Amino acid sequence: MKIKSKTITASSPGKLMLLGEHAVVFGFPCLVTAVDSRLKVTASKITVGPDRFQTPQVKECRFIQKAVQFFKQKYQINQSVCLTTQSDFSARVGLGSSSAVTVATFLALSYLFGQNLSRRTIFDLSYQVTLAIQKVGSGFDIAAATYGGILYYVTGGQVIKPLKAELPSLIIGYSGIKADTPSLIKKVQADYQKNPQKVKKIFQDISCLVDLGKEMLLKKNYPRFGWLMNQNHLLLQKLGVSSPKLDFLVKTALQSGAYGAKLSGAGGGDCMIALCPQAKSQAVAEAIQKAGGELIAVLPNAEGVRLEDR
Ligand code: MEV
Repeated sequence: MKIKSKTITASSPGKLMLLGEHAVVFGFPCLVTAVDSRLKVTASKITVGPDRFQTPQVKECRFIQKAVQFFKQKYQINQSVCLTTQSDFSARVGLGSSSAVTVATFLALSYLFGQNLSRRTIFDLSYQVTLAIQKVGSGFDIAAATYGGILYYVTGGQVIKPLKAELPSLIIGYSGIKADTPSLIKKVQADYQKNPQKVKKIFQDISCLVDLGKEMLLKKNYPRFGWLMNQNHLLLQKLGVSSPKLDFLVKTALQSGAYGAKLSGAGGGDCMIALCPQAKSQAVAEAIQKAGGELIAVLPNAEGVRLEDR
């Protein structure tokens, strides 16, 4: 009788930054939501040859390889593995494919080798992988991929607080331009060194918005949360990380009836988000599309890393 070898599939969600990007790299809080586009990693043991990786998106491969290396070192494993990925979303739009693939890899390996890793350990190991590859980053995307839901998060996982909150009618528009997150972080770092008082004040103001945003979400005060998004966008413009296209899409969303809109992520490109009254969501989505934004159909508040049946 042929014994079928064990195959494990894990999946993790993508993310969208709601409030607090950039400031969170420098020790301040942010609000992030996991989104329901998922990235799956299937892992099995192999007996012949080195590790094998089948990843359609090249960028993900570096993260998987590093995660496998860290996992094997930590748990002293010599066995080779075969890992394949399948993604609901493209790495191009900035929904966090690298963090999702890293987190899902650790959960899949954890089950494959019977290690029973806690969420916290998966977060910590995944964050080490991100830092080893990208050198910079707050880890908020890793937290979203690991824990899911809507999180209040502080740099490096000092605080990871799931919020009992909802987000009705969030419209996402992709600017058509890929953001270069590490370069944008370095640009903000350089500005911080040149002009610490000005940049620190912007971070402190963003941090106040995040704390207020947390309260508004818990109170379901969406008009007020929208206003905070607008203030956050203005501060990101001041920080010099927005772009004419993102500004245009944000303005368009507001003119079509959104409560609030802002860029989401590092800036320069990637996505903008708009929070709308339910009755306006169609109009806002159409206006964003007409203005040249590509609509990304994802829902917030998605479940964190989990095993899949395959
Ligand atoms: C990028 O999506 C968000 C930043 O705050 C970077 C990070 O938090 O790692 C700019």
